[in-house]
Amino acid sequence: MDNILLNAHKGFGYLELILITLFIIVLLVTSLGYSGKINKLLRKVTLFTMIFFHIQLLIGIVMLVLKISSGMDMGGLMKNPALRFQFVEHPFSMLIAAVLMTIVNKKVKTNDTLTLKIFFMSVLAIALFAFAFPWAKVFGL
Ligand code: HEM
Repeated sequence: MDNILLNAHKGFGYLELILITLFIIVLLVTSLGYSGKINKLLRKVTLFTMIFFHIQLLIGIVMLVLKISSGMDMGGLMKNPALRFQFVEHPFSMLIAAVLMTIVNKKVKTNDTLTLKIFFMSVLAIALFAFAFPWAKVFGL
């Protein structure tokens, strides 16, 4: 069960990386555009980025609960930077990024033009994602 969840989480992780990259490109094109008008593509990309954040959140929470209920040593974990990143900083930062992306999606759906507030919330969500994504583990750096 752990392995199935971990592989699913990793697989959706790659997909989310592609979606976030698309989101950054479309966000920049829209914000640098003359009118800043929100188009269908930005709405679609934001929606799918949010959906896969929610899926990752669900799988992530189940993985965390399974780990904690299998008797994970929390004290030892906090002292170990790699474990602390994987089981505290990664889930927590990705959770905040998921909340921000949910708000951004709602605003992108209801607004006609891209406001500074939407832009900065998106940048914060992207920054948290970039911090929390386990690059070394995924790309074997
Ligand atoms: C878009 C959001 C997310 C992405 C792209 C993502 C991606 C990843 C990746 C690539 C791994 C490493 C898998 C490996 O090779 O071992 C991982 C591990 C993990 N993620 Fe996420 N994650 C996301 C959100 C979350 C959230 C919201 C939580 C929890 C609330 C979470 C909990 C975990 C846990 C507990 C592990 C470690 C699993 C283990 O080593 O057993 N993730 N995540």
